[in-house]
Amino acid sequence: MQVVLDYLKRNQARFVAELCEYLRFPSVSAQPQHKKDLRACAGWLVNHARQIGLEARLCPTAGHPIVVAKTPRAPGPRKPHFMIYGHYDVQPPEPLDLWKSPPFTPRIQGRSIYARGSTDNKGQNFAHFKAVEAYLKTGTPLPCDLTFVIEGEEEVGSANLVKFLKSHRRELACDAVVVSDTGMPSPKHPALTYSLRGIIAFEITVHGPSRDLHSGVFGGAVENPAMALARLLAQVRDASGRVTIPGFYDGIAPLSAYERKQFARLPIKDRDLQKLLGVKKLFGERGFTPTEQRSARPTFEINGLTSGYQGQGSKTIVPAWAHAKITCRLVPNQRPAKIRELVCRYIEKICPPTVRLEIEAGHGAEAYLVSPQSREAHAALRALKAAFGCQPVLMREGGSIPIVNDFKKILRADSLLLGLGLPDDNAHSPNEKFNLDCFAKGQAMSAHLWQELSRI
Ligand code: BES
Ligand code: MN
Repeated sequence: MQVVLDYLKRNQARFVAELCEYLRFPSVSAQPQHKKDLRACAGWLVNHARQIGLEARLCPTAGHPIVVAKTPRAPGPRKPHFMIYGHYDVQPPEPLDLWKSPPFTPRIQGRSIYARGSTDNKGQNFAHFKAVEAYLKTGTPLPCDLTFVIEGEEEVGSANLVKFLKSHRRELACDAVVVSDTGMPSPKHPALTYSLRGIIAFEITVHGPSRDLHSGVFGGAVENPAMALARLLAQVRDASGRVTIPGFYDGIAPLSAYERKQFARLPIKDRDLQKLLGVKKLFGERGFTPTEQRSARPTFEINGLTSGYQGQGSKTIVPAWAHAKITCRLVPNQRPAKIRELVCRYIEKICPPTVRLEIEAGHGAEAYLVSPQSREAHAALRALKAAFGCQPVLMREGGSIPIVNDFKKILRADSLLLGLGLPDDNAHSPNEKFNLDCFAKGQAMSAHLWQELSRI
């Protein structure tokens, strides 16, 4: 084991240079013009996996390809088998003018590497590749078989990976899935995340006049779709931060006293959070702390709002339409299909008769909750402690990784969420970064993890 850790230490500079290559691909899954870049990024990863001694292949799908890479299988008794899941697709980098350096030209400053996809998720999954490389290149036997599954559609709902899991059940059958695509409160607080929120996405369009109209000539006699949409959306949440949709909170389990106590122990303070996020004042559902609000309570969020003239200067029109992109975050016991129905029904009900409403459904996923007390969880906690040299914390987080539910349903495997991201990494924001100490310690964590997991 020491030789593995020494190898990791010796090769950090090269690893960082390789991560830069990985980060140069603008693998933005949501934008059709980047289809070729996703293919190229996946191809690069397959090649890289082969170079470090893995058996790797590119698996085409109806969307972006999936990379599968396995440690060479030795003859002999069956070893434990673990899957490492990650994604090489990234969120759109816009707005570009807010980046201090171009999003796909990695820049190192201090102990951070800046690029879109650095923390979410290329840097995190690459740490596992480097740990496995250390075993293979030093001839250290791995106590288990490993299969990397790195997809290109996580940021758009993972629809094609679900099909792939179903058609490759046998090959992908495993004892657990390891996912580094979450966060930790600070480098001194490595974390095992035992719950994620679910999600439903949809888009609303409110149609008014058949074309943009002169607002002087016609304004006042027709409903303004932007006004109608604004009024409609404003009714979905009340002043105490509660979603007003009937039935939205039905069946949600209250937070236990134990859980609330654990939340309260996390190191992030309200003041720090307010400063980090640059808001005048925090806001959230009354009766819950910010940590609870953003990890264990459901939400209704506007992700995008468009209507009327967006160019320079003024233009006096009544716009023909108004549009909103919406996602709700869900918690355990909220069924995505049911919540979608409640939301649609409510919006239809409160929509004024002066406009035509169109609701388009998007992706959806249930929340995830797994025991932090399993033997696998304890093994993971030992690996975190060994690598980071600090006592790990248990967390619930508010982001979503839809596919972990499918690992459970299709492969019957639990996911160990061992995130390497920091709260100020700017995932999904301009100037995304990844901390190079988290990168190095993540590799060490992965190296320890295979020992700890295989021992149980
Ligand atoms: N890595 C995130 C999920 C995450 C972030 C979990 C922080 C916990 C803490 C992932 O890449 C992501 O952003 N997922 C999307 C999923 C959606 C597009 C279906 C999300 O949560 O918005
Ligand atoms: Mn993401």
